[in-house]
Amino acid sequence: MRFDIFTLFPDAFEWLLGQRSFRKSGEEGAEFTLRDYRTWTPLKGGRVDDSPYGGGSGMVIRVDVVDAALRAVYGEGSRPRTILLSPVGRQLDEDLVTELAAEPALALLCGRYEGFDQRVHDHLADDEVSIGPYVLAGGELPAMVLADAVVRRLPGALGDPGSSVEESFSEALGGQPEYPHYTRPPEYEGWAVPEVLLSGDHASVERWRREQSAVRAAGAAHERTGDSVASPGRSPGDDDPGAG
Ligand code: ADE
Repeated sequence: MRFDIFTLFPDAFEWLLGQRSFRKSGEEGAEFTLRDYRTWTPLKGGRVDDSPYGGGSGMVIRVDVVDAALRAVYGEGSRPRTILLSPVGRQLDEDLVTELAAEPALALLCGRYEGFDQRVHDHLADDEVSIGPYVLAGGELPAMVLADAVVRRLPGALGDPGSSVEESFSEALGGQPEYPHYTRPPEYEGWAVPEVLLSGDHASVERWRREQSAVRAAGAAHERTGDSVASPGRSPGDDDPGAG
C-alpha cells in the first residue's frame, strides 16, 4: 500500500514513520512519502495560503496550491483515494479503517490555519475524515492516527499477527472492546490478578475474557447513552482499562 501525506510539516511525521509497524510494513512493500505543499506552490516565497474572501480571521490554504501538489505527484492520470482530514468529516472507526486498508494507495491532505479553500473539499478530495468531534490545530495528528490504524492492518506490521485478531472491535470479539490483560507479578500492593488467569484452565480463561469484553462493551454503551446498565461489578483492573 502506498501513502502520500501532503502537509506543511513533514518533519512532524518522523517519529511515526520510525515506529516498528511502519518499518515492518515498509519491509513488506508499503510506502510512505511526505509531500510538502511548499515544494510545488505556484506562489512566490513558498506561500500556500491567503486571507479569506469576505473577511474574517485566519488564513486559508489555496486550492491552486493543493492542486499543483496533486498534479506534480500524480500527473494527469488517476489518483489514489484522496482523504482530507477535517473535524467535520466522517468519523474514523474500525469499519472505515478496514475499508481504507483495502485501498492500494491513499493520499492524505493535512490542513492548517483556518483550513482549506472549500474547492479543495469539493473538487480535489474524495472523502473527509475526522478523528473525533473536536478541533485540532491541523490535520497532521489526525493523519497520523488514521495511518497508524490502517498500517496495523497491513501484512508484516505486527510482530505477532495474533495480536490484531483479538484486539478491541475486531470480528473475533464480535466488535466489542478487548478484555483486560495482566502479567507478573500476580499480586502487587494487594492488587491481585484474577484467579482464573492463573488457573491454567484455558476454557475458563476464554469464558472470562468474553465476559470481560461484554462488561466493557456495556460500560462503553452506558458512557455513550447514559442508559443504565446492570452493574458488572468491580474486578481487578477496572481502574486501568489498559490500551486494548
Ligand atoms: N483537523 C482539525 N481537527 C480535526 C479532527 N478532529 N479530525 C480530523 N481533522 C482535523
